[in-house]
Amino acid sequence: MLSTLKPRPADKILELMALYRDDPRDTKIDLGVGIYKNADGETPVMRAVKAAEKQLWETETTKKYTALSGDPAYGDAMKSLVLADSVDHARVGAIATPGGTGAIRQAFELAKLANPDVTVWTSNPTWPNHVSIIKFMGLKNESYAYFDEASCTVDFDAMMESLKGVKAGDLVLLHGCCHNPTGANLTLEQYGLVADLIIEKGATALVDIAYQGFGDGLEEDAAATRLLASKLPELLVAASCSKNFGIYRERTGCLMAMSETAEQTPVTQGTLNFLNRQNYSFPPDHGARLVTMILNDDVLKADWMAELEEVRLGMLGLRQQLADELKRLTNSDRFDFIAGHRGMFSRIGATPEEVMKIREDFGIYMVGDSRMNIAGLNSKTVPLLAEAVAKICK
Ligand code: LMR
Repeated sequence: MLSTLKPRPADKILELMALYRDDPRDTKIDLGVGIYKNADGETPVMRAVKAAEKQLWETETTKKYTALSGDPAYGDAMKSLVLADSVDHARVGAIATPGGTGAIRQAFELAKLANPDVTVWTSNPTWPNHVSIIKFMGLKNESYAYFDEASCTVDFDAMMESLKGVKAGDLVLLHGCCHNPTGANLTLEQYGLVADLIIEKGATALVDIAYQGFGDGLEEDAAATRLLASKLPELLVAASCSKNFGIYRERTGCLMAMSETAEQTPVTQGTLNFLNRQNYSFPPDHGARLVTMILNDDVLKADWMAELEEVRLGMLGLRQQLADELKRLTNSDRFDFIAGHRGMFSRIGATPEEVMKIREDFGIYMVGDSRMNIAGLNSKTVPLLAEAVAKICK
């Protein structure tokens, strides 16, 4: 049987991780995979996470199964973190999932169960694994215009024009904040117009929110998701705790499904539980438990928020430094958008050849579409990157 298998194309982001690892230059800079790194290039365990782990070690008396949904307290904590009071929580079902990717996968599974003929609409570009999973599941995929390559900002008119093709029963995937890979985001007003269009078409929105707290702030980054929840009759939200809690390997995500009425919730929740059971049964608990402990403890929560804010402001500072440095070196405002982008990434509009040349000549690794992880920089490496970009990008 196994001999019938064919080699699979490597994931571009993960492939880049290996290329970087194998580069012997000690001046190399990794701007690839979306992992936060501090100025020393480390990804430390956050203080509140360490404290919660210590508490958990001291107090946990059993490792028996929780529930198919994961511990309901986790779902409640995530509803409060992401949706706050934008919607009656009785309308929202929730399951713990293995990471944000698990939540995305389960969202597609849910959509497929509800409408086997569903078309999933994704932004052009989007996180490549969105499209990969959609195709792997045999679902239909359409992309909607999003990024204007010339200005490196959102082309909203083109986006609305292409979303005119959405049909009743389709699923429209939106990034809740910190668009991956571009860093270019919709305004709240634009999210509102997209919501109106989704209502008009009778489609459902799926929000992927993987970087809450990395853009304009914890509350600000959830504002679009909350607006959609308050306007739309139904909403799916796939949230990740990998980045904002720094618990990547614990695989901690959450899928929330908001039904039109609270009466529908038991069936929606039951379906979510069923999907967990079919795919991996009980979801992982450790990361979810840490998140729940932190969000439900005022002291831990305050410390987590403070550290997250340091991370966010650090990345904003690097963005500004890079934009300033590029302004100086190119004597133009061509790269000003870098300071206006939000989140961990910016797509800087370099060609694949330029990206390759920057990698070969300077040992600076960004994804082939010219997505760079801002958190891979520090104040000393920003000038090196700026020099490389100014020299190579014509
Ligand atoms: C990324 O986009 O780099 C992250 O979401 C990590 C991943 O799994 O690709």
